Amino acid sequence: MGFGFIEVGSVTPLPQPGNPKPRVFRLPEDQGVINRCGFNSEGHEAVYERLSLLPPPGNRKAILGINLGKNKTAHDHVHDFTLGVEKFGPIADYLVINVSSPNTPGLRNLQHREELEELIEAVVTTRDSLPGTHKPPLLLKIAPDVSEDDKQNIANVVLRSKKRIDGLIVSNTTVTRPTSLQSPDKEEVGGLSGQPLRTMATHAIRDMYRLTHGSVPIIGVGGVASGHDAYEKICAGASLIQLYTGLIYHGPPLVVKVTSELEELLRRDGFSTVTEAVGADCKQ
Ligand SMILES: Cc1cc2nc3c(=O)[nH]c(=O)nc-3n(C[C@H](O)[C@H](O)[C@H](O)COP(=O)(O)O)c2cc1C
Repeated sequence: MGFGFIEVGSVTPLPQPGNPKPRVFRLPEDQGVINRCGFNSEGHEAVYERLSLLPPPGNRKAILGINLGKNKTAHDHVHDFTLGVEKFGPIADYLVINVSSPNTPGLRNLQHREELEELIEAVVTTRDSLPGTHKPPLLLKIAPDVSEDDKQNIANVVLRSKKRIDGLIVSNTTVTRPTSLQSPDKEEVGGLSGQPLRTMATHAIRDMYRLTHGSVPIIGVGGVASGHDAYEKICAGASLIQLYTGLIYHGPPLVVKVTSELEELLRRDGFSTVTEAVGADCKQ
């Protein structure tokens, strides 16, 4: 389809059904989606069995990220993530610590300072002690709704000298509901994605790029449905782009549309690579 990389998940340690259906709502008038899936997952074992059929890291045609979640009933949140690092570290090109889904009670609290520091310390230590030489980068996926204080705390975890995170994914869905929403399902409980999230996510990328001084890669995500949307996120500080809801409304042709439009915009502004444009907004 033209993607440069793929991320699977979130995967929880034990199988769990997620929330009762219906749990995904299209907001067509707004080009958005509200979901409260709640990590419906077949669990580590089933996902591992499938993914371990792929060639090992380094021998694959595309980069494979594995996004880790926690079970709804887990008592020890940190342990669920370290289990994921142990299980999937050896076969992932990168791992995601997802602390930003709004549909698992208590999960987003892991973005607060003390909880975050404890979590990152534990997952980095587990990653560093994986057997063999393959130590995949760890990326933290954050919500667009984090407070200014939490943004600074997250940046501190990136900037500290030891046990630091290798990158950020900005952002997950929002629990806010912009007043511009038109669709009848706009009040459904869950995380809002797609076009109504776009600007909010881009602002969060710009904030995190500034606060981390561009020292780690940021994967930009939220409402991307054109080359312009991708370019906006790259100029705000994203080194890679993901999309999900756009694919729901536009289907597979969207990927080539985004990449070819992006190429044109880069050329127009005199950039010969994506890398040159990363964070361009913050350098002016
Ligand atoms: C139906 C649905 C399920 C999602 N499930 C997950 C998930 O399990 N883990 C996760 O990190 N993000 C999940 N997301 C969030 C997306 O990965 C993405 O961060 C968000 O939707 C914003 O991007 P978009 O506007 O391109 O969809 C989900 C989004 C949707 C629409």
